[in-house]
Amino acid sequence: MLGHLPAQSPDAILQLSEQLRVDPRPNKIDLGVGVYKDASGATPIMRAVKQAEQTLWNAETTKTYTSLPGDPDFLAAMRQLVLGDDFPGNRVASIATPGGTGAVRLGFDLVRMARPDARVFVTGPTWGNHLSILSYLGMEAVPFRYFNAATHGVDTAGMLADLAQLREGDVVLLHGCCHNPTGADLGADDWRALIDVINAAGAVPMVDLAYLGFGEGLDADAAATRAICAACPEVLIAVSCSKNFGIYRERTGILMAVMQDTGAHTLAQGALTHLNRQTYSFPPDHGARLVAMVLRDAELRADWQAELDDMRATMLSLRGALVQELRARSNSDRFDFIAQHRGMFSMIGASLAQVMQMRDAHAIYMARDSRINIAGLNMHDVPILAAAMLEAGL
Ligand code: LMR
Repeated sequence: MLGHLPAQSPDAILQLSEQLRVDPRPNKIDLGVGVYKDASGATPIMRAVKQAEQTLWNAETTKTYTSLPGDPDFLAAMRQLVLGDDFPGNRVASIATPGGTGAVRLGFDLVRMARPDARVFVTGPTWGNHLSILSYLGMEAVPFRYFNAATHGVDTAGMLADLAQLREGDVVLLHGCCHNPTGADLGADDWRALIDVINAAGAVPMVDLAYLGFGEGLDADAAATRAICAACPEVLIAVSCSKNFGIYRERTGILMAVMQDTGAHTLAQGALTHLNRQTYSFPPDHGARLVAMVLRDAELRADWQAELDDMRATMLSLRGALVQELRARSNSDRFDFIAQHRGMFSMIGASLAQVMQMRDAHAIYMARDSRINIAGLNMHDVPILAAAMLEAGL
């Protein structure tokens, strides 16, 4: 039986990490997978998380099951972080999930359960695994214009024109902030126009929030999601704690279904809890408990936020330094878009041949679509990347 399995192609981003790992050249530059790195190339455990872990180790007396939807304290603390302190809890059904990917997967499952023929509209381009999971589930993905390769920003007119095809019950998968892979985010006016188009069609927005706090700050990065929840009758939100709490391997995330109608809340909560039970029973608890402890303790929370702010500032200064370096070397401002992008990523507009040239000649690893992870850079590597980009003909 197993000999007849279809061969699966490896995930492109994770394959890149493996190719980098076996490259024997010293001074490799890893701009691949979306993991935050400090100036020394390390991905440290955040101070508040480490402290919470120590406290938990001392205080925890049992490893028995927690509740099926997940630790209620984690669910409430995350709801408040994303939607604000005053958002009514009786409008939100939620489950803890293994990472943001778990939330995305179960979000799609929920859509399929409610509406087997729902189409999922996705930004062109979007995170590769969005498409891969939809294809695995046999759900139709419909790309809409999003990134304008000429301006390196969002093609708002194209986006709104393409979304005119939306039908009632379709889902629109959006990146709440820090678009992956392009780095190009919508402005407040674009979000308003987008919400109007979605509501006019009777479609359902699903927000993927994997980089909350990496763009402009926690509240600013949540603003679009909050505006959507204020305006749309039903919203799905998949949130990852991997990056902003630095707890990648703990697999911590949350899926929320936000509804205007509080009556529908019970039904949605039942469906979400059922999905947890069918998929893996109880969700992982360790990372979720650490997140709840950090968010519920004023001192830990302030320290976490300060460290997160530092990470964001580091990424912004790397963006600024790369733009300065490219300006000086190219005598042009054609790379200024890198400073406009937000989050970990920028799509720099290199062809596959140029991406491979930078890899072959300088051991610079970026995704095949020329997405770079800004946090993989450091001030020493900025001039090396800038020179390699120009040498490749960008
Ligand atoms: C990325 O896009 O690099 C991250 O979201 C990590 C992953 O799992 O792909």
